[in-house]
Amino acid sequence: MDFGEAPRPSVDTEGRLYGRPRAMPDETLVRSGPGTPGGELLRRYWQPLALATDVKDLPVPVKIFGEELVLFRGGNGIPGLLYPRCMHRGTSLLFGKVEEDGLRCCYHGWKFDAVGHCIDMACEPGSEQMGRVRQPWYPLVEKWGIIFTYMGPAERQPLFPRISICEDLGDDEEIVAVGGLANAGNNRFRTDFNWWTVRDDVMDPYHLYFLHSNLNGIQLISSWKAMPKVEFRATPDGALSYAYRDLEGGGVLLRIGQSFMPNLNATDTTSDKPCQSGVDWTIAIDDTSYRSFLLMRRKRGVPESMEEFAKTGIGSGSWGGMYKSIDEPWTLEDRQRWQSDYETQGGQGEISLHSDDHLSAKLDGGVSIIRRMFKQNAEIVAQGGDPVGVTFDEPYLYNVAAGVAILTDGKKTGVAGFDERITARGAATGIGLQGPNSD
Ligand code: FES
Ligand SMILES: [Fe+2]
Repeated sequence: MDFGEAPRPSVDTEGRLYGRPRAMPDETLVRSGPGTPGGELLRRYWQPLALATDVKDLPVPVKIFGEELVLFRGGNGIPGLLYPRCMHRGTSLLFGKVEEDGLRCCYHGWKFDAVGHCIDMACEPGSEQMGRVRQPWYPLVEKWGIIFTYMGPAERQPLFPRISICEDLGDDEEIVAVGGLANAGNNRFRTDFNWWTVRDDVMDPYHLYFLHSNLNGIQLISSWKAMPKVEFRATPDGALSYAYRDLEGGGVLLRIGQSFMPNLNATDTTSDKPCQSGVDWTIAIDDTSYRSFLLMRRKRGVPESMEEFAKTGIGSGSWGGMYKSIDEPWTLEDRQRWQSDYETQGGQGEISLHSDDHLSAKLDGGVSIIRRMFKQNAEIVAQGGDPVGVTFDEPYLYNVAAGVAILTDGKKTGVAGFDERITARGAATGIGLQGPNSD
């Protein structure tokens, strides 16, 4: 058989893979375990652990920042969070019995209250040892339907913070919490990778334009199909992204996304109606998985509007691979034909390799700000200081400026509290792009 002349191999010697240094993650960003710089920063804040409704009549295993813990709620209604190995001889308290005032180990019957005091020893009533035993524990606060914990040093425990959207509710409004322990992801929205992969995504308005709207059909809402003018801005406690799009018939649609230190976000909704955003926390379960908790403010009994989402997007049954149910496993071919967050986020691997990244001045201004701020605050903690948002005299206020606004003739409707100067400038002139603050 004649195979013809062999193709001539390239003699270009630049850019080949051979001998390349191994790509590495940014360790401060991706590690959340005890004693790591990022983990110590995260432990200085009250962090959501479970929805109040996640805890029923049995002890619940919870993993957060690489620590395995047992959460329970006594018959008296008080929740407790304990180190799982019983301080007697190590049986897991996951198999313990929940009682009125504590959790009783199933092996020899030592009982611990919500803050770890040993309050009964079934086999040796009245033992003097009881007062000397303490099951290691973390404090909890139950608020807005979420159980929060503080896992840092006791002497640096901050006051529980305030969130602007959770205040001054009208009689017809309510705060709704979603997410929690059951929020394990599915085919389309994976959660089995490092928490910073999804955290970056919050400050990434351009992927809404490309991936979610122009690559292979509208996945969420149709207005994202237009290229926005975007400005990123650092704030004292995080970053803002402003995305402006001209509206047909005049006016400007402004979407504002927001990121707070160290792991709280406020993203605009999948609606074009003027509104204020909710907030959500990204919680590292360990270094290769995360969960989310969302808080929304809404009119009592009115479900989140998903009209357009249901008509055109992933939720409609008409986009891409939605010929399969959301719980049905996707094949490699499915994922090669239709991409969404599943491919772009999980596609970075369990832990992204930041040494490979080439951040763009246009696209990555927000990502750059929040990565740098996280590392700066981790360094503050390492030097013995208190990071931004940690207060001891007055509760810290997270001021949510995120949401959707419509700007017409110098007036706005929609999101409250955003920076009027920036908005006026963006509406009048088209926003000048601000490059990333380089690392
Ligand atoms: S191991 Fe828990 S009471 Fe003995
Ligand atoms: Fe996305």
